[in-house]
Amino acid sequence: MIQPVPVMPIKAVVFDAYGTLFDVYSIGALAEQFYPGHGSAISTMWRDKQIEYTRLITMSDPHNPAGSKHYLPFWDVTQCSLEYTLDRLKLDRTAQAVKSLMNQYAKLTPFPENLGVLQTLRAGGITTAILSNGSPDMLQSAVVSAGMTEYLNHVISVDGIRLFKTSPESYALVEQTIPVRANEVLFVSSNCWDALGGTWFGFNTLWINRSGLPYETIGPRPTFTGQSLTKVLEVIF
Ligand code: LAC
Repeated sequence: MIQPVPVMPIKAVVFDAYGTLFDVYSIGALAEQFYPGHGSAISTMWRDKQIEYTRLITMSDPHNPAGSKHYLPFWDVTQCSLEYTLDRLKLDRTAQAVKSLMNQYAKLTPFPENLGVLQTLRAGGITTAILSNGSPDMLQSAVVSAGMTEYLNHVISVDGIRLFKTSPESYALVEQTIPVRANEVLFVSSNCWDALGGTWFGFNTLWINRSGLPYETIGPRPTFTGQSLTKVLEVIF
């Protein structure tokens, strides 16, 4: 299939964090250790609830100039959604399990190809950044734990504006932080909904579809799709 080419040369590659740069698989594996037979259900419901809460919070007060008054840092959203998930699955919600599963978020490993991709982008003079719902502390600790500090020019959190993705304000943080226009950005996410939000905003987008999921059935498709992060290098070089 002929791949589209970006209209403008790409100056910056901006990555989503969780599931895109950081491998969240270890969370399901740890959940399986605490709750045998439920690891996969926990990690799926936990993730869905986490994203649902971000949308609920942002949509309930989207025009507040100070950001949603219902805002909770993503760390707190993540813990609340884990607690909901354990309750919903009628599992014993012990303090130790919650603490261990939360701690896993702070020390995720990168997918194997990710460091090499970041390194090649930086060597090629491309600006690299994260744009994430993650709160600054949790992002910082994940970036350090994954050994990515020296390969990322910017780590941008929505925390400062108290509005989560897919609000346009969250994607606008990229142009406010990096001297680029939206059409000079390649936004890379393993969440198709996030790639769609970025496409609607005006970025070139790349969906990393690691697990063979279908496209969203609303809106335009991402500009590019790949199965691993190495697709970024095909698009850029
Ligand atoms: C993030 C989540 C949505 O990093 O993956 O923003």
